[in-house]
Amino acid sequence: MPESGYGQQEQMEDPSMEGTLRAQAEMIWPLEQPVLERLGFGSFETLADLGCGTGQFAGRAAGAWPALRIHGLDLFDRHVELARELWPASEVPGVSFEQGDARATPWEDGSFDAVSIRHVLHALPDADAVLAEAQRLLKPGGLVYVLDEDYAGLLFDAPGEPARRLFHDARPALAKHGTDLFRGRETFRDLRAAGFTDVRVDPIVVDTVNTEREPFARMMTFWRDGYAEFIAEAAGLDPRDVFARFDALIETLLDAERYSCWLLFAVSGRRPA
Ligand SMILES: C[S@@+](CC[C@H](N)C(=O)[O-])C[C@H]1O[C@@H](n2cnc3c(N)ncnc32)[C@H](O)[C@@H]1O
Repeated sequence: MPESGYGQQEQMEDPSMEGTLRAQAEMIWPLEQPVLERLGFGSFETLADLGCGTGQFAGRAAGAWPALRIHGLDLFDRHVELARELWPASEVPGVSFEQGDARATPWEDGSFDAVSIRHVLHALPDADAVLAEAQRLLKPGGLVYVLDEDYAGLLFDAPGEPARRLFHDARPALAKHGTDLFRGRETFRDLRAAGFTDVRVDPIVVDTVNTEREPFARMMTFWRDGYAEFIAEAAGLDPRDVFARFDALIETLLDAERYSCWLLFAVSGRRPA
């Protein structure tokens, strides 16, 4: 078995993460679902969702495609418990959740039509191991779907350079903890290196025009609560400075005169037939 810990595990398992994942899904899902339709999700029978968290993606996918059988797996048992509470089998029969490691899952070779990995790889020092596991789990011709972060794609019309530079300043410090904040753009290359074919990128742009400001600001508030101290400590910054920068971003998101956006990369590929 691989080492189970990773650099930002404490933050990933902080109670604020539940709110983060909910706000993110509220914002992203309406723009993501049409992308998934185009990628063939409506025709799949089986999906493994690796690092499923509280099931915000798996639950929505089960609602959208009732014939799809979805198996969510997460390292953190509390997230698995929450996922089962939020998406109970009695109401969402297509989805089930279990505790486990995405680098060494309990499932048979070639048992899934698709594997999804959302908001996970940037936080792991050994993302390649998760992609190798996805490759193993897929049927020949099956689809891997990765939605990963690249925090350089978060653009805010915030007053003042410090707030605008927050994630750039945080990046070198978080790299020491195995987190790459600019990883999203590398996913295309990673999928190709892992042997997937037909690799494509569907950019998804969530912004303060096409989505509500409130969930965007709520997400940033949960990020602040879960990550400000971690960033400050890792980067050797005054926590008050980091909190103030997050607050400036939250105010920007709530200011009807100011525009902000988040560019995400939905990257997919096929296991060779
Ligand atoms: C930011 S959350 C994303 C949750 C979900 N995919 C979503 O889109 O809402 C990342 C999740 O990955 C899980 N995780 C991290 N390393 C993992 C591993 N090796 N195996 C399974 N889950 C892992 C964490 O516990 C956390 O729940």
